[in-house]
Amino acid sequence: MKGVVLAGGFGTRFHPVTRVVNKHLLDVFDEPMVYYPIRSLAAAGITDIVLVTITESMEQFHSLLGNGSELGVSIEYAHQEGAGGIAEALLQAAPIVGSDDVMVVLGDNIFQDSLLGYAESFQEQGKGAKILLKQVSLDDALRFGVAEVRDGKIIGIEEKPASPKSDLIVTGCYLYDDRVFDLIGTLKPSARGELEVTDLNNLYVEEGTMSYEVLRGWWTDAGTPASKLKASILVALEKGVTFHR
Ligand code: DAU
Repeated sequence: MKGVVLAGGFGTRFHPVTRVVNKHLLDVFDEPMVYYPIRSLAAAGITDIVLVTITESMEQFHSLLGNGSELGVSIEYAHQEGAGGIAEALLQAAPIVGSDDVMVVLGDNIFQDSLLGYAESFQEQGKGAKILLKQVSLDDALRFGVAEVRDGKIIGIEEKPASPKSDLIVTGCYLYDDRVFDLIGTLKPSARGELEVTDLNNLYVEEGTMSYEVLRGWWTDAGTPASKLKASILVALEKGVTFHR
């Protein structure tokens, strides 16, 4: 299985700083944001990684990460022109991933749990896809993909619903079988002009081959100024930092 880290997009929620630096190179506590998804993949035993980012940021990622050896992984790079969505970003990794299964982590997602067990259970599953859910407050669920679960099965996922049907949100770690790139090829752009990962995931849901697990440890995205601050605090606490008043 290969790993993919998606670090494209324009990071507009962080303007003006992201006019000059890619969001995933900003700090989360004491390290660049992109280190966290790379480490999550490495801890899951996945060391062949494709990093997808926008053409304008490629040089900066190369300078920071090189071939990945400092983080104990092997990184190859793929470009995304513009920001046509998470599924479109993933499609750029297709020539490098080939016919392997793939574990995708969004470049702004930070997981406390080791992802090893989830990668192993997906390998036992064989066909289909797997997503990792996290329980959040209903107010927060509005920002994410929200899964509706019945009798232990996902029956549908809604992207940023106005009234979430559950408090289980879809985190940015997705495991797919080797049909994923063909399925992305069937997607149509959403109202906001993106190829949506939620539409991709719903194809597997409709097929009945989408499994899920609920994360036990903390999880956060770092894709807004507030969630990035929260991520820094969670990481600092994890590293034993105490805050004095
Ligand atoms: O964090 C989990 C959430 O991530 C999920 O619950 C949602 O279902 C999913 O759509 C996504 O929502 P966001 O609104 O947070 O997505 P965002 O546009 O911020 O993109 C997240 C990451 O995906 C970003 O850090 C880089 C990558 N990305 C995104 C886009 C739109 C790309 O590489 N290329 C893109 O074109």
